[in-house]
Amino acid sequence: MLTSSIGKKTVMAISGAMLSLFLLAHMVGNTTAFFGREAFNGYAGHIHDLGGILKLLEAGLLFFLLAHAGVALLLYLENMQARPERYAVKKSSGSGLIAQTMPYTGLAILIFLIVHLANFHFTDRTTPPSEMIREVLGRPEFALFYIFSVLAAALHISHGLWSLFQTLGLSHPRYNKLIMTGGIICGIAVGTVFVLIPVLAVIYSGFLL
Ligand code: HEM
Repeated sequence: MLTSSIGKKTVMAISGAMLSLFLLAHMVGNTTAFFGREAFNGYAGHIHDLGGILKLLEAGLLFFLLAHAGVALLLYLENMQARPERYAVKKSSGSGLIAQTMPYTGLAILIFLIVHLANFHFTDRTTPPSEMIREVLGRPEFALFYIFSVLAAALHISHGLWSLFQTLGLSHPRYNKLIMTGGIICGIAVGTVFVLIPVLAVIYSGFLL
């Protein structure tokens, strides 16, 4: 699959679909933060209670992340080699601009994930998750970093969803508008929920208290 261009795009599409499902589930789960400390810690507790299943899901997530980022790098390098005129000024318009920035928003997400997992995953697990959020995102420099990163994730998913439908041949002129609108709605939802959390952590001292 990795030798043909369509094979690589298919790997990108399937792994992208799995990562998008994770991100949307993570977003829905994180909305519990708006209902207070108990709701959020209760939700996090249920996730941890999954035990072995959680480990399996995490392994799957890592696998899809490595596949997605690895093949993206391959495609990017191939593209650079095939198009020596890459420094020429490109036409940029609407969604075209988001499409062109996919490698950069992808890289921003990768850098964000390293910081994010260090903040919340590979850390002292005896601290309640609500407290970790207050401690980390209550700091304006972290809040700003989170805001920029999740906006990159919102742009990435809004175009990625559209793109994966095209690659997997699931598009149809009749439904293309619906697919594009669906991608944009998911992007807006991800951006709104994930931005609101660091914003609230900074401006509202009672958040998750
Ligand atoms: C305000 C934004 C976000 C907050 C407050 C947040 C919070 C959290 C928390 C509390 C955990 C649980 C750590 C644990 O108990 O293991 C977590 C895990 C995780 N988050 Fe986020 N997250 C945010 C945005 C994102 C975004 C945008 C992405 C991806 C682009 C992401 C990817 C992950 C991943 C991969 C994990 C690890 C899942 C696992 O292995 O169990 N998060 N996040």
